[in-house]
Amino acid sequence: MKVNGKHYRTVWKQEDGVVQIINQRHLPFAFEIEDLRSVSEVCVAIKDMHVRGAGCIGATAGWGMYLAALSAAADAHSGDHFNEILQSHAADLIATRPTAVNLAWAVKRQLAAIAQIADVAGKVARAEQVAAEICDEDSDWCRRIGEHGVKLIRQLADHKPAGGVVNVLTHCNAGWLAFVDHGSATAPIYAAHDAGIPVHVWVDETRPRNQGARLTAWELAEHGVPHTVIVDNAGGHLMQRGLVDLVITGTDRTTFTGDVANKIGTYLKALAARDNGVPFYVALPSSTIDWETSDGMQIPIEQRDSEEVTVIEGVAIVDGSVQSVKLTPGGSAARNDAFDVTPARLVTGLICERGFCAASEAGVRELFPERS
Ligand code: MRU
Repeated sequence: MKVNGKHYRTVWKQEDGVVQIINQRHLPFAFEIEDLRSVSEVCVAIKDMHVRGAGCIGATAGWGMYLAALSAAADAHSGDHFNEILQSHAADLIATRPTAVNLAWAVKRQLAAIAQIADVAGKVARAEQVAAEICDEDSDWCRRIGEHGVKLIRQLADHKPAGGVVNVLTHCNAGWLAFVDHGSATAPIYAAHDAGIPVHVWVDETRPRNQGARLTAWELAEHGVPHTVIVDNAGGHLMQRGLVDLVITGTDRTTFTGDVANKIGTYLKALAARDNGVPFYVALPSSTIDWETSDGMQIPIEQRDSEEVTVIEGVAIVDGSVQSVKLTPGGSAARNDAFDVTPARLVTGLICERGFCAASEAGVRELFPERS
């Protein structure tokens, strides 16, 4: 997608041994590119959310494995030692964030690919190739999600009186910043906007880190998509008033049975959508499907620092400086579950790179028969 008219992905190789990312911690107040030169720098970038979003952390971990292969090549005295170093870097990367399945998926894909090659230089070259493949695939899959998902928005627009606008509600940021490009939940929205379908987005602010207010709003503004930021608790009220035609969210991990782990608060939106007869769709590339877990309640939910709840960052009105302020009394405890699970029964459908399917084992396997 474009920033100030220039096309960017969220992560790319700049030169041998240097991976670059858009540092999302500073958005929307500053647009900064960060260099990552070691696995430990990649781990910090993922854990501290310089990059975030399932696809983006998977792609960044893919590049992390390229840096891991380079460091193993420099330090290893033998093939066995290379593998030991690589495995240890892989474990460090996987440990950074537990919920989004793309992270472990990308690291394991790299380990399997690198293991196929005998010589060390070949292993490094293969790691670089696979990291680039993961990025290209992620971008392509998200673009396809847009091509499928736009049909939903078009259908809704066709049923509106002339000039009627389709109102889509989304939660968190499942935009291009959460992937390599295009995004999952936003891909149908961008496709609709680009096709001239009148679309407006209700952007949940998404406490505690405000990915909606900070990132989704910034992305949509950069692309010229009409949108309005709302507090997290407003969605149900807007649905009752007939102001939401469709909910589309992303997901960090969806079980092969259709249970959806996504940013905390998604479940409440799904409940409100069901109560109000609003379709609730989840957009995801197949790299986000967990083929081993059948029950969403088994998905590990990341517990993050309580300071993300008690402290908030923003720009001071007086001088434009970025400031952090405390919101709560010193003596109050805070808890920060980063994700929740929406049961498949509340999900109207999944939008994948291959098309739509029901949020059920039968639906998912029909779309991905090679997994049956
Ligand atoms: O904690 P984050 O910002 O990495 O979480 C991302 C999300 O939960 C998004 O909602 C998104 O839908 C899933 S990532 C595509």
